[in-house]
Amino acid sequence: MEALKGIRILDMTHVQAGPTCSQLLAWMGADVIKFENPQGDATRGQLRDVPNADSLYFTMLNCNKRSITVNMKSAEGKTVFVDLLKKCDIIMENFGPGVLDRFGFSWDKIREINPRIVMGSIKGFGSSGPYADFKAYENVAQAMGGSMSTTGVPDGPPFVTGAQIGDSGTGLHLAIGLLAALHQAQRTGKGQYVEVAMMDGVMNLCRVKFRDHQRLTRGDLSEYSVPTYKGMGEVPRAGNDSGGGQLGNAIHCKPHGANDWLYIVVQEAVWDSLAKRIGPELGMPELAKDPHFASIGERRKNQQLMWTLINKYAEKHTKRELMAILNPLNVPCGPIMSTEDLANDEHVRGRDMWVELDHPQRGKWFNVGMPIKLSDSPAVIKRSPLLGEHTDEVLKEVLGYDDSKIGALKSSGAFSAPPKKAAK
Ligand SMILES: CC(C)(COP(=O)(O)OP(=O)(O)OC[C@H]1O[C@@H](n2cnc3c(N)ncnc32)[C@H](O)[C@@H]1OP(=O)(O)O)[C@@H](O)C(=O)NCCC(=O)NCCS
Repeated sequence: MEALKGIRILDMTHVQAGPTCSQLLAWMGADVIKFENPQGDATRGQLRDVPNADSLYFTMLNCNKRSITVNMKSAEGKTVFVDLLKKCDIIMENFGPGVLDRFGFSWDKIREINPRIVMGSIKGFGSSGPYADFKAYENVAQAMGGSMSTTGVPDGPPFVTGAQIGDSGTGLHLAIGLLAALHQAQRTGKGQYVEVAMMDGVMNLCRVKFRDHQRLTRGDLSEYSVPTYKGMGEVPRAGNDSGGGQLGNAIHCKPHGANDWLYIVVQEAVWDSLAKRIGPELGMPELAKDPHFASIGERRKNQQLMWTLINKYAEKHTKRELMAILNPLNVPCGPIMSTEDLANDEHVRGRDMWVELDHPQRGKWFNVGMPIKLSDSPAVIKRSPLLGEHTDEVLKEVLGYDDSKIGALKSSGAFSAPPKKAAK
C-alpha cells in the first residue's frame, strides 16, 4: 500500500515550487486534486514543444494528480472550494502575496471551516518582514538567499546554479513541513499553517557558506583556492572548490569538450596512493614525498600546483578512463554528466530515474523519476492530467454531487473562465 494512501490534498499550487512538492506527495500515494484556475496552470502553455499539448514544464511537475477547474472569482466556485476543504487533509498554495485573502480565505477562515486541515504556503519571502509583499521566481530567490553571491569565480559575475534550489528546493522543504504537521494533526486533531519562504530555503541550502562567513572573523579560509583573509566580511565565489575541508576540483580530460571533466576530491587519506600513481608518468617518481604536498596544510597552500599536475596527467585520459584509474585508489570522483549522458545512463535507468510515459496529447515523453525510494511502497509514476480532466469525477466521488447539481454549477460558470468582455 502507498505510504500516503487515504490522504487527500487540495492542491492550488502552480508553476514549479508548489507542484514539485505535491508531485512528490502524489508519488507517495496521496490523492492530489490539482485545483486549477479555469485557464489552467500557466505552465501548461509555457515553452510548448508540441503544438496544442501540455508543455513538458507542466507534465514533468504534475504527474499522478487529478485536475479540477474552479473559478474562485464566482460565488458558486467558492462553495465548491469550501466543500472540498472539508474533505481534504492538506491544502497547499504558492500564489503571490495576498491572493487567497482576496478570495476571502485567510488561514483563519480556512481553519474555521476545517480545524483538522494542514495548510502549506510557499512565498518568496514569507508573510512577515520588509520583503513580504514581493513576488519571487527561482533566480530571485537564488540572488537573495546567498546562492548567487557564492557561485562563480571572484573576478566574474555571480551565477545561478543549474539545480532549481529556489523553486524545487523550496518544494522539498514544504513537503517535510507538511508531513510533520500532518503527523501532529493526526495525534491532536488540529491542523496548522506551514510556511516556507524561498529565500529561507535557499539560505538553508547555503548553510556551509554561512559557516565560512563566520570563520572569516577569526582567520582566512585555508582550503579555498581563492584569496581570503581575516575580516574579509563576505564569503567569496570559489569556483569549483569542494566546500568541505578536503580539496576538490574539476579536471579537464580528453577530448576536452564542454563536459569532458572529472570532479575529483583529493581526500587526506588518498594523497599517497594518488601521488604514487600519477607521479611516475609526470616524471616525478618522488611526488608522494614532495614536501610541497606532504601534509594537507601544504597541499592547501600549494593547491594550484597540485591541480596543474593532476590536469597534466588527465590530458591523456577521457573522464571515464580517469575515473576507472581513480576508483580503485578510493579517490572520490565523478564525471561531469551532461543531460544527454544522464538520459542514456544505465545506472539512471536502472534506478527508475528517467521514466518513459505516454500522454494523450504529446505521445511518449520522459520524466525524471522519484528520488525517494520507499521499500514497501515504491512510486508508480502516471502521466499528468489534462486541464479539468477529473472535474466531474471529483465532484461526484469526493463531494457526492449529482448530475443535476453539477449541471447547475456548470451553467453558473463555477468551472469556467468568465467570458471576455467584448472590445469596444
Ligand atoms: C509565481 C508568481 C510570481 C506568479 O505571479 P502571478 O502570475 O502574478 O500569479 P499570482 O499568484 O500573484 O496570482 C494568481 C492570479 O490568478 C488568480 N487565480 C488563481 N487561481 C484561481 C482560480 N481558481 N479562479 C480564479 N482566479 C484564480 C488569482 O486570483 C490571481 O489573480 P489576482 O492577482 O487578480 O488576485 C507568484 O505566484 C508568487 O510570487 N508566488 C509565490 C512564490 C513562488 O512560489 N514562486 C515560484 C514559483 S515557481
